[in-house]
Parts: sequence; structure tokens; C-alpha cells
Amino acid sequence: MSKERVAATSDVPEGEVRVVECGDRSLAVSNIDGELFAIDNKCTHDNGPLGEGRLQRGRIICPRHGAAFDAKTGKVLSLPAVRSVNAYRVITEGDDIVIECDEPLERDGR
Ligand code: FES
Repeated sequence: MSKERVAATSDVPEGEVRVVECGDRSLAVSNIDGELFAIDNKCTHDNGPLGEGRLQRGRIICPRHGAAFDAKTGKVLSLPAVRSVNAYRVITEGDDIVIECDEPLERDGR
């Protein structure tokens, strides 16, 4: 399992979501109450950039047509998207955000 530094913790303020690159993946990293989470930055409806959306009550709202995804698990929560996205393990090492992006986390019900 390879790990990659993707940003500084200060780059993702509490209550915000940001786009980061990890290997050949683009990810949406969220800060929920000081805890960091990462999911794919590509909406399953029509490839909207989730990391450019809004973070509301633990959900990322796609900026294109408003589908919602669980920022922690990637689970799809509302139309027009119907498929979930992958989530990845995030580690904080000092001031660095490190992500294991070569293998998504397992998700129940997939
Ligand atoms: S591209 Fe995300 S809701 Fe359409």
C-alpha cells in the first residue's frame, strides 16, 4: 500500500472540501469537525468535480446538478447520481495530509 502526501492540513479548513491529486487520481478531501476524509473527485452522474462542490452536514453536493455523496464513505445519497464513488484512507502526519490512494476502502452494500 503506497502513501502519498497530497496537501498540508491548513490547505483544507474545517467545513471545506478541496481537490487534491494522488497518483493518477483526483480526489475530494473534506474536513469534517477537524477530521479528514477523501473520496473520488468525479461524480458518477456526469463527472462533476465533487471537490469543487459544497460540504453540508457531512455531504458533498455536486456543483453540476446537485447530487449528494457521503463525504466519509462516498455513498450516493441523492439523485441525479445513482452510483457511489470510492473512498480512501486519509492519514495526518504532522502538518501533512497523506492518502493511500492506490486502493479504495471497502464499503458495505457495494
Ligand atoms: S455531474 Fe454531479 S450531479 Fe450531475
